[in-house]
Amino acid sequence: MQDLQNEGSNSKTWSGRFSEPVAEMVQRFTASISFDKRLAEFDIQGSLAHAKMLHSVGILSRRNLDAIENGLQIILLEIRDGKFDWSLELEDVHLNIEKRLTALVGDAGKRLHTARSRNDQVATDIRLFLRHEIDEIDESIKSLQSAILDLAEQHADTVMPGFTHLQVAQPVSFGHHLMAYFEMLSRDRERFSDCRKRVNRLPLGSAALAGSSYPIDREGVAKMLGFEGVCENSLDAVSDRDFAIEFCSASALVMTHLSRFSEELILWMNPGFGFIDIADRFCTGSSIMPQKKNPDVPELVRGKTGRINGHLIALLTLMKSQPLAYNKDNQEDKEPLFDAADTVLTSLRIYAQMIPGIKVNKDAMRLAASRGYATATDLADYLVKKGLPFRDAHEAVARAVRYCEEKGCDLGELSLQELKQFSNLIEEDARQVLTLEGSMGSRDHIGGTAPKQVMAAILRARKNLA
Ligand code: ARG
Repeated sequence: MQDLQNEGSNSKTWSGRFSEPVAEMVQRFTASISFDKRLAEFDIQGSLAHAKMLHSVGILSRRNLDAIENGLQIILLEIRDGKFDWSLELEDVHLNIEKRLTALVGDAGKRLHTARSRNDQVATDIRLFLRHEIDEIDESIKSLQSAILDLAEQHADTVMPGFTHLQVAQPVSFGHHLMAYFEMLSRDRERFSDCRKRVNRLPLGSAALAGSSYPIDREGVAKMLGFEGVCENSLDAVSDRDFAIEFCSASALVMTHLSRFSEELILWMNPGFGFIDIADRFCTGSSIMPQKKNPDVPELVRGKTGRINGHLIALLTLMKSQPLAYNKDNQEDKEPLFDAADTVLTSLRIYAQMIPGIKVNKDAMRLAASRGYATATDLADYLVKKGLPFRDAHEAVARAVRYCEEKGCDLGELSLQELKQFSNLIEEDARQVLTLEGSMGSRDHIGGTAPKQVMAAILRARKNLA
């Protein structure tokens, strides 16, 4: 099986077919080593499993397997120590490692690629990489959720104005507001874990596209690498990157949630709101305006969301017109994927650190809630409970709000006599529903903002998170 045409140290593993060397420009254009060397550890993991399988089915001798295992171990250490000499002429991570292996262990290294192609090799590497990233992301979402739970628990009965159209709507518990993000993040975890199932399948054994003529044991390799099963069609296995698109889509959604959260933190920190302060270590100053303290972290997270949306579109577009099976286009999947994973992870990690450093100004939240006629719906509901049709109640309260606006006060500050001008169904007990606490406490059902319910939701969430 010796390949006598390829003995030159710089020759490509496939150069036997060519009558002139590849133009330098083309070499640089087609090489992926500058970014796919990041897959090296996964590539070695895959090669080790492949070699073991080749031995177990009788394709590779014990001696050759030992040599490959030792060689790959040395290469792993060289890479970890930053001593591995990556070469652009060798195109990508796969060929770089294979060439080094051959230099270290001789012929055994050349036998490793039996029953394998870079097409199924790279698909395996990306899947191993993504599985690893998904597990890291899951841990990071959990840490962020746990930080949110702690803050929500401290503020289960802190009143803030709930908004619709960014106008004061009804009083809500700040803890309840925070728990909305907890819920979004729970769905993000579900999405990643669902994506993981489809990532976690073994393409190896599909070879270039049609499968292999050797008696390979794909299930054995899948087991060794912790895959849940094998990809069932060799053409599909080497060509589709739908699992990577799903990963980007789940990433875009979690970033969208963080971006909404960021937008709120930025607004709340504006002195016009003054609801919160973010710890100094997460903010920066201005080089010209001495008074400034800017919420750069949430702003950057909001900004980075655009990158991930871009990566999602890049991958969808990359895939959409590719004929079966593998095409070199797919080499373009890596940079967006790497950046998506890095961006999501750093954003989640910094958020988990930043949340405990948030200081809440309860008085400012309360004041804002009491200024916006936030309990108007409660007064309307009160009238409905006294027998008035809702539309009439709505009208009566709207007139009361107009009266308050002219007088410059809140509904809760009106006397019983003043209130009675708008409906004689209003009695002294109406004044209780006009308080912020009364309003908030009355939404007392699962999913409602009553502090009792918020505490129950936090308790359930803690149990689920453990
Ligand atoms: N660097 C390539 C990629 O990322 C590896 C597979 C190349 N296969 C090929 N037949 N050129 O897709």
